[in-house]
Amino acid sequence: MLEGEKVKLREYRKEDIPKAWEYFNDPDVRRFLNPGIPFPLKLEDEEKWYEEQTSRKDTYNFAIVIKDTGEYIGGCGINSVDWKNRHACVGIFLGKPFWSKGYGTDAMKVLVNFIFSQMNINKVYLNVFSFNQRAIKSYEKCGFKVEGILREHIYRDGKYHDEYIMSILRSEWENR
Ligand SMILES: CC(C)(COP(=O)(O)OP(=O)(O)OC[C@H]1O[C@@H](n2cnc3c(N)ncnc32)[C@H](O)[C@@H]1OP(=O)(O)O)[C@@H](O)C(=O)NCCC(=O)NCCS
Repeated sequence: MLEGEKVKLREYRKEDIPKAWEYFNDPDVRRFLNPGIPFPLKLEDEEKWYEEQTSRKDTYNFAIVIKDTGEYIGGCGINSVDWKNRHACVGIFLGKPFWSKGYGTDAMKVLVNFIFSQMNINKVYLNVFSFNQRAIKSYEKCGFKVEGILREHIYRDGKYHDEYIMSILRSEWENR
């Protein structure tokens, strides 16, 4: 169920924390993730995140590992769920050494399949900065479409950038 062609999704483990912190704290990774001021993250913040994740309501995080080796390469998860309107917001990141090898697309497909087949959700959506072309391409390969544009919503590197909302509907997932 939580296995793709290249990756597996599994629970987060304490031993993932140093790598998660290293990958997540890389400025090249953080500039695509954090709409706020991209301050460096403390190891203690990562440990706190790990300790709190099980108590957060409607948040479900997975570690992404390479299927053949079990190496931890990043994370993905459901950030919030609206159970009445039946939509879920998702996110994903990989450590920089693992970009553009097909792992992210595979992991997102597994996550979306899990949500539609196990959680009775009607729409999965995410937010992505317009300058994150790698992510946009990857999401399109998973069947996501741009459904809205937040104009000049992100100030980064001295400029304003649009932020896109992308989504896939259950009906689209079923017809793929
Ligand atoms: C976004 C992310 C999860 C995508 O995973 P990935 O494994 O790197 O992506 P994939 O290799 O599966 O697919 C990327 C696609 O974009 C293409 N691509 C790479 N760089 C690109 C660029 N600058 N412009 C356009 N397309 C690009 C790749 O060629 C690939 O397409 P292809 O398979 O048809 O050749 C990963 O890059 C990542 O974690 N980035 C940093 C954090 C981040 O941006 N998270 C998402 C926030 S919304």
